[in-house]
Amino acid sequence: MTDTPAPRTDVPLMEMQDVYVSYHGDISILNGLNLKIPEGKITGIIGPNGAGKSTALKTLYGFLKPQRGEIRLAGERIDGLEPYQFIERGIAYVPQNRSLFNDLSVEDNLRLGCWVFRKDKARMARALERAYAQFPILKQKRKDMAGSMSGGQQRFLELARALALEPKIVMLDEPTAMIAPKLSQELYA
Ligand SMILES: Nc1ncnc2c1ncn2[C@@H]1O[C@H](COP(=O)(O)OP(=O)(O)OP(=O)(O)O)[C@@H](O)[C@H]1O
Ligand SMILES: [Mg+2]
Repeated sequence: MTDTPAPRTDVPLMEMQDVYVSYHGDISILNGLNLKIPEGKITGIIGPNGAGKSTALKTLYGFLKPQRGEIRLAGERIDGLEPYQFIERGIAYVPQNRSLFNDLSVEDNLRLGCWVFRKDKARMARALERAYAQFPILKQKRKDMAGSMSGGQQRFLELARALALEPKIVMLDEPTAMIAPKLSQELYA
């Protein structure tokens, strides 16, 4: 017997409860959305164009604030926090639309992604090293402008930038949209 309590398995890693979100006035896009994201699993949101999938992810990441409802991370309320505070808590997000700084180099894009821990030089170095080990093409192109790469390579950079944060959760919004099937397989791998 030890005094350490067994980890609770009934608390999802992330959870949305009865969430209402609108962009303008009273036109509600999410109407009482409930979502449970268990640890160590892949959770998908499926729906037709305009259903609100991206809105749900933007809300989970703090870009949109719910009018009603709760968002929890490992049981702790996190709705109302700013996006950078989500990053600090280990949540990474790759939006549906391209999100790179086209006129900055691949490496500067990676560094900017790690802005929240910029003072921790060892961690920054490890993040870059890991990104280059996982995505050798980015190492080759580290001095190139991000905008000069192909669409697929840019997606890899966005993914590398998210993974560099060593997140607990990675939220991907249509990661393989407009990407060749072969590259899509690589991306999922
Ligand atoms: N910035 C915005 N301002 C106002 N309305 C918006 C905005 N973004 C999305 N909407 C509206 O919210 C609804 C849901 O859009 P959302 O982008 O979340 O859908 P989606 O399921 O991600 O669609 P898709 O499959 O096309 O990516 C749509 O009616 C859309 O027009
Ligand atoms: Mg979308």
